[in-house]
Amino acid sequence: MRQLKLISGPVAAFAALGLVACGGSTGGTSDAAPASSSAAQQSTSGYDTIVSEDGAISFPADYKTWAHMGSWAVVNEGGEGNGMHNVFTTPDVIEAFKATGKFPDGAVLVKEVLASEGTELTTGSANWATDPQVWFVMVKDTQGRFEGNGLWGNGWGWALFNADAPTVQVASDFNNDCLGCHVPAQDTDWIYTYAYPALKAS
Ligand code: HEC
Repeated sequence: MRQLKLISGPVAAFAALGLVACGGSTGGTSDAAPASSSAAQQSTSGYDTIVSEDGAISFPADYKTWAHMGSWAVVNEGGEGNGMHNVFTTPDVIEAFKATGKFPDGAVLVKEVLASEGTELTTGSANWATDPQVWFVMVKDTQGRFEGNGLWGNGWGWALFNADAPTVQVASDFNNDCLGCHVPAQDTDWIYTYAYPALKAS
């Protein structure tokens, strides 16, 4: 049942995106432009549900109903599967990114890390996702809202949740816990944007 759920989330999200794209193109160019630019200013749909007034970040429990940005399949040095990473955001963020090439203020990105298993199938060495391990969450902040809070800096809020206690945020300092590994993506606002098909303007 769990695997079915993992599949249905992204598929449903893509269907929703398809509808959004069709609506924009049938609306005519003069109508579509203002809608895109206002969508680009700010995203509140994820932000409002997970960021408190003092900058605490809580687990976005409904992220599987959001839009699927893309996935990573990780293998270890021996070539064995070592996890699947699925990245989600709210559909308005994808629309804004396609229009501007930037994440709007308030955008929430969620990376779920699932364990995986593999076997030889007719398709090759095939891996499938199993249990959740951790979730990484980032919240775009163009306003420098929470200066001095160790979870906020470099234009983002940064958070981490473990599968054994998803309600508890466990990162304490984004500089130590997160930033070093995201340096290769510094030029694209610390996000590995090249890997996400949904962000590519169609
Ligand atoms: C060990 C290195 C490492 C650490 C530590 C790390 N990340 Fe990442 N992160 C990556 C890499 C590499 C990717 C993309 C490839 C992948 O997922 O395998 C990524 C992707 C992400 C994504 C998906 C969006 C993107 O940038 O492509 C989010 C969200 C994220 N990380 C948040 C965090 C947060 C928050 C922390 C700290 C709590 C953190 N990461 C710590 C290496 C790291």
